[in-house]
Amino acid sequence: MAIKIAPSILSARFDRLGDQVKEAGEAGADLLHIDIMDGHFVPNLTMGPALVKSIRPITKVPFDTHLMVTHPQDFITAFADAGTNDLTVHVESDHDVRATIRAIRDAGLTPGLVLNPATPFEKAVPYLADVSLLLLMTVHPGFSGQAFRAEVVPKIREARAYIDKEGLDVEVEVDGGIKVDTAPIVAKAGADILVSGSGIFPDRIRENLKAIRAAAEKARGR
Ligand code: DX5
Ligand code: ZN
Repeated sequence: MAIKIAPSILSARFDRLGDQVKEAGEAGADLLHIDIMDGHFVPNLTMGPALVKSIRPITKVPFDTHLMVTHPQDFITAFADAGTNDLTVHVESDHDVRATIRAIRDAGLTPGLVLNPATPFEKAVPYLADVSLLLLMTVHPGFSGQAFRAEVVPKIREARAYIDKEGLDVEVEVDGGIKVDTAPIVAKAGADILVSGSGIFPDRIRENLKAIRAAAEKARGR
């Protein structure tokens, strides 16, 4: 399967967000990554369902909503109604992970599980049969523009190997510090979906996206 690129709008210019979303769609984004932060699970506040709803009509690109909140189970319906396609939740949040995943599916969305850089792959294993996405953070969540954490690379390899061995229908997504120089590293390690915020937005969106995709595809060689 071809590499997918998911530009993260956290790095877009919010004063002209609609145009930036449109541009990312026209540039060939496979998904649009939307970072939801509650100022509690992570030390930052970003956006909510109202924003997702307002940009939904601008593009046909599927929305990949990343919930960095303490109680993800409380927001499933709101983001489903706002028009997201998938919803990813952290294993470290305060919830019954299995119940949340089931509720996401019941809401008609594609569920994904997220692991922080320090969380071992084993924590995801009990849920892998029930999710379609495994998002491995390559920075501590909270802010865009941070440096890629190379110590997560063995975990990407481990996830890839396990998913292939078990024949699971789970895509491996990576998020944080992905740019032209780090895209080949994660692609080679087995990532399917590359999130990139400051590597793509706010200027030269098309060129940046194209360069990241080319670098990743070259490194992957499969
Ligand atoms: C970080 C967010 C990321 C962020 C990525 O907490 O989850 O999606 O927007 O930004 P970059 O690519 O600049 O690290
Ligand atoms: Zn994210």
